[in-house]
Amino acid sequence: MTALAESQPPVSIRTPPPRADVDALPIAVDPLALSLNENPFPPLPAVRAALVKSIDVANRYPEFFPERLRRVVATRIGIADEQVVLGPGATGVMLQVLHAITDPGDRIVMSEPTFDGFPIISRMTRLSQITVPLDPTGHNDLRAIAYAASEAHVVVLCRPHNPTGTVESASATEEFLERVPSDTIVILDEAYVEFVAPEFSIDSVGLAERFPNVVVLRTFSKAYGLAGLRIGYAFCSKELASRLWEMQLPFGMGITSLVAVVASYRAESQLRQRIRLITAERCSLRAQLHAMGVFTTDSHANFVYLPASGRAWREVFDSIDLLVKHCSDGGVRITIGSGSSTRAVLAAIRTPALAI
Ligand SMILES: Cc1ncc(COP(=O)(O)O)c(C=O)c1O
Repeated sequence: MTALAESQPPVSIRTPPPRADVDALPIAVDPLALSLNENPFPPLPAVRAALVKSIDVANRYPEFFPERLRRVVATRIGIADEQVVLGPGATGVMLQVLHAITDPGDRIVMSEPTFDGFPIISRMTRLSQITVPLDPTGHNDLRAIAYAASEAHVVVLCRPHNPTGTVESASATEEFLERVPSDTIVILDEAYVEFVAPEFSIDSVGLAERFPNVVVLRTFSKAYGLAGLRIGYAFCSKELASRLWEMQLPFGMGITSLVAVVASYRAESQLRQRIRLITAERCSLRAQLHAMGVFTTDSHANFVYLPASGRAWREVFDSIDLLVKHCSDGGVRITIGSGSSTRAVLAAIRTPALAI
């Protein structure tokens, strides 16, 4: 045996590698997992049953290009199939969009703070990022974004915004789109659109018709509760969509996607009921925080946002192992879960800070 071999501990007493099998899967119902804006409910029985069937044929490839899924989504929204592109989550679609329409060095404008995926995908596509601070109420500064957009290739507008959950009015959104040059692509991210009350909704199909530079981005990860399956889509004018479709990855959508989407659309009334429960829980959490003197932004999504304040939010939530999202500006974003999640959040905030 060489000296080197002798110095190595026997394999059996080395630290075992982290588990990577079914025991390592996350828990579907976990009241303390409030950091990723996931849906707190496990898949509906009908969706689960459809998924199990699709997993039984996992030895087979899915469609070469997701033509059927495209048709299902387009029919649902009421637009032409050729206006829809699909990808692994809205994140994957965003990458596809930027690959299709930008060159390295082009400028992209986004608010700050925003969804973490945007700066990551922008770096992956070698874009130069221009950030515009949110206004003090957590809204996008539409004037400043439109101004920056005049020198940029792409601009991202989140409605509702992540992490603040705010929405810009329909008229402000339209005015913004009118101000942005027609050769600047606007990615209108509607990842949380299903949580927006009808009185705040906008006609994004109509906007995509009127503004051929607008790409509306959506996902099945949030209201539909299918984050683990990675299904997202975008729709826009046919001309723009045909450029985006050129970047559609062959066999890129897993065999579970089509059945999960069809089963979810069929179970729409049950999903709507879940959305109502989540939005009611959000209103209740906001009201209770307000009563305690804790300010939250006007969220229209499945989370609330507490801006930076005198409290060290990290200590507050770490103390009870509550997983929340700490943002770059010192604020904290908390996903809406069940009643016990709400109680855990309130208990953490009520607990006075320990004097050290
Ligand atoms: C604003 C926004 N856009 C897009 C996404 C990406 O969602 P997914 O890739 O799971 O579809 C998220 C996820 O948190 C988000 O908050």
